[in-house]
Amino acid sequence: MINLEVLTDKVNIIAREVGSFIREELGKVQQYQIVTKDHNSLVSYVDQEAEKMLVTGLKKLIPNSGFITEEDTVDHYDQEYTWIIDPLDGTTNFLYNIPHFSTSIALKHKDELVIGVINHIMGDELYYGWRNGGAFMNGRDIKCASTEDLSASIIATGFPYAANYNQKPYFEMMSVIMKEARGMRRFGSAALDMAFVANGRFTAFYETSLNPWDVAAGIVICKEAGAQVCDYFGQDSYYNGKSIIVANDQIIKQLSNYTAKFFDQKDIPNT
Ligand code: IPD
Ligand code: CA
Ligand code: CA
Repeated sequence: MINLEVLTDKVNIIAREVGSFIREELGKVQQYQIVTKDHNSLVSYVDQEAEKMLVTGLKKLIPNSGFITEEDTVDHYDQEYTWIIDPLDGTTNFLYNIPHFSTSIALKHKDELVIGVINHIMGDELYYGWRNGGAFMNGRDIKCASTEDLSASIIATGFPYAANYNQKPYFEMMSVIMKEARGMRRFGSAALDMAFVANGRFTAFYETSLNPWDVAAGIVICKEAGAQVCDYFGQDSYYNGKSIIVANDQIIKQLSNYTAKFFDQKDIPNT
């Protein structure tokens, strides 16, 4: 049986090493080294090299583990233990020299997420947690916000990249939150948005059209920090990131009432 606490320590070391590499490359990527994967979805050698470093390091920790990664530098396959990795979450920020991006690493055992690590590289904040072990930032316990009051809450969100999608439900939802909450943020790294929910900076985060590597680590850390997680329809199909809300149990009820009111599954673009 794997000791999750010991394993998390080792993952943290790898996350920090990869973070140093990414930090070193900030501001160095040339235009010709940027590839457009899809409309508004960019990638460079930094994402790819970081992912290779992670795969090499993590494979050594659990030799027969599987991988689900954003940049496809390794074949995707599920094993008893599977790593779910976004080497650089917030690539657009990174490429525009905006110091807000992260590395997100999760471990799944069979169907259960058991470890989450998110490195806020430029903030020198390492967030991590493991199942039933708690959530931490740089060695300190963290807890999600306890306020039940939207008017005292900062709410984070993001928007789909797709060129043509029905923007109406996104604007309708935002117009309610803009009125009711203290403020809204769109920072550009879903993993960091979730880390900031875990330590109470943001009271909630909601977004659609994400992927498992955007949310897996955040799910573990947020749950361990006391937050609830659901999809836009109040159900638990959030692991794939198609729609997700994280917040304490009172705020998540309020937000999921709005998302269920404004959104229909068919309005949510696939990634
Ligand atoms: C993106 C970020 C962003 C979210 C996008 C993601 P990437 O990830 O998490 O905040 O709004 O939907 O794709 O492409 O920078 O890894
Ligand atoms: Ca991402
Ligand atoms: Ca990424």
